[in-house]
Amino acid sequence: MLYGADYNPDQWPEDVWDDDVRRMNEAGVNIVSLGIFAWSRIQPAEGVWDFGWLDRVIDTLHAGGIRVNLATATASPPPWVSATYPETLPADETGASYWPGSRQHFAPSSPVYRRLAGELVRRIAERYVDHPAVVMWHVGNEFGCHLWMDYSDAARDAYRLWLRERYGTVEALNAAWGTTFWSQRYGAFDEVFPPRLAPYSHNPSSMLDFRRFTSDMLLECYLAERRILLAAGATQPITTNFMGPFKPADYRRWAPHMDVIADDCYPDPAHPTRVRDSAFQRDLVRSLKPGVPWLLWEQATDAVNWRPANPGKAPGALAAETAQSIGRGADGIMFFQWRQSRAGSEKFHSAMLPHAGTQTRTWQEVVSLGERLRRLGELPAPGSDARAALVFDWENWWAVEERDHPFEIDYLAVALEWYGALHRRGVMVDIIGPEEADARYDLVLAPALYLLRDDGAAALNRYVGEGGTLLTGPFSDIVDQHDQFCDGGFITRLGEALGIRYEDFGALAGPPAGGMGVGALGAVGAVGAGDPQTVALTLDGIAARGTLVAEAIHATTAEVVVVFDDGPNAGRPALTRQRHRAGEAWYVATMPDATGVDAIVARLLRETGVRPVVDDLPDGVEVARRGSLVTVINHGDVPATLDLAGTDVESGHPLGRTELAPQQVVFCALPLAEPSTPDATERIPAAVS
Ligand code: GLA
Repeated sequence: MLYGADYNPDQWPEDVWDDDVRRMNEAGVNIVSLGIFAWSRIQPAEGVWDFGWLDRVIDTLHAGGIRVNLATATASPPPWVSATYPETLPADETGASYWPGSRQHFAPSSPVYRRLAGELVRRIAERYVDHPAVVMWHVGNEFGCHLWMDYSDAARDAYRLWLRERYGTVEALNAAWGTTFWSQRYGAFDEVFPPRLAPYSHNPSSMLDFRRFTSDMLLECYLAERRILLAAGATQPITTNFMGPFKPADYRRWAPHMDVIADDCYPDPAHPTRVRDSAFQRDLVRSLKPGVPWLLWEQATDAVNWRPANPGKAPGALAAETAQSIGRGADGIMFFQWRQSRAGSEKFHSAMLPHAGTQTRTWQEVVSLGERLRRLGELPAPGSDARAALVFDWENWWAVEERDHPFEIDYLAVALEWYGALHRRGVMVDIIGPEEADARYDLVLAPALYLLRDDGAAALNRYVGEGGTLLTGPFSDIVDQHDQFCDGGFITRLGEALGIRYEDFGALAGPPAGGMGVGALGAVGAVGAGDPQTVALTLDGIAARGTLVAEAIHATTAEVVVVFDDGPNAGRPALTRQRHRAGEAWYVATMPDATGVDAIVARLLRETGVRPVVDDLPDGVEVARRGSLVTVINHGDVPATLDLAGTDVESGHPLGRTELAPQQVVFCALPLAEPSTPDATERIPAAVS
């Protein structure tokens, strides 16, 4: 188990470093991420290099038994880079430059930035590649975190090249984007611009490609640095830190290039769904590399500095949130950062070693967590415990949230709602792309599948044919990979499996707004026509509401399980089920509210026999299974009692009826070894274990 933090010794005089290492040992720290923002210190001017201090830090850490995850330091170019090479700066959609003075002020596609960053990485790699303290490489930092889109001239030039590569001919581009619409036909790739500020909606197919391009440019930066590290002889695992469901970067495409997945997660202590949301994030990153433990690369020990209000964590929540990561597959627990900064934008951000020193609850919790992690020992490999999967797909996210649709949808919120119904019950879930639906899963939920690639459609049809149970809808199987309708209407690829035919979207009214045009919507409500924003449906005796749409669908061969009780399509199918020889395909023709989602999930679990890790979980208690390890956490404010069959991993005592205080964590080893669980030592890169 790795335990540590970002370490920024360049912010402190050298005489602090020995104290740092002594304290790190006291806390059980065994690794630090070093030098993430140290470019200006390593290269104070063009052609001037200063590695002396870094040599001394690494040697000091090594002598103290602390391993180093060495950063490539490219995330924040020094002022001289921006002043000498303004063409490296990114731009917003009006074309205005982002200026230096913060961080991440580089255009990812700028050849000059990449050349300068590459030179830095080469020098760092060649100098430290064989240093025994260096066990891992940290490329860049949170790629794209602050700058979701770059519209600079560098992006313009790279975008044109990217499009040429993707489409070959401008005719193919025109066909993919449907450019006969609004006279958008291109005569040459050089006529294309990034989607800068325009009078009205950009072509949605071009927006989708610009998002793909943006993700690819960030990935190219990572890959360019990775190649340099490998060329210098790096044998250590190479990675960068993800941010869970981060819209600009399609991490499923990135994952194959990471030796190990590292993820940063900062649950908001004040947010009512923080437990569910962070569980989703951890399941997502675990699912990116099935069977390989991931690393929690950054979390906060206490408060952050970057939300409008920054309350600290409840006593014990640090261990509880950490246990959530471990239960869901993490083999490393790291923080931002080791020692709280005394200057700069993040001086109010918590750290392992607070500015107030060691006589603090934070320090005590950090030390106690270090001790507990040491007691855990080697853990089983994660990734083979989920019989249910939720489809979460970046291209869908991008495409379905484009404007000019029948309604507005928050893709992540939809995913979280369906995930929550499983999470609340203690059911393990993998988060997958549509192409990954296969016989590992008894149940696959794909609640928002607006854009369906051919491979995804084929995999989902195969999955149902081979005995799986699929649920999809509404507004699914609407467009192809170019965000264009398919021939023959809607639900053209999944319609047969679902046993339905699609007639109309049936968008419901949005929230009433002021102004002339939409004022009328308020009037509909006022004259007693019911709630125009929702429709009623009843499943298994549970009354729920549908939102956003009440679609007009026809059950061609499917069984109608539920009809709409009211609204524009009253009496028509709201939930259908098509049984096949082996599998089943369900379709829901509205976006159910939380009650509806819960009722449908309850029904599907009953039908498929997918079981929770522990039955009848008390409120506030979360469980996760990782091979023979079951993690039980009471996130609630009151004690909770449940029966646990197994042994307490930390004490070695048998469990049984167990009372958990608020924030208490129990790591429970199940009595039987899992025969299907491969040897955990094979799962983590050798240099780290
Ligand atoms: C991110 C960054 C860190 C730091 C933290 C603060 O995770 O990677 O450098 O800014 O946020 O929460």
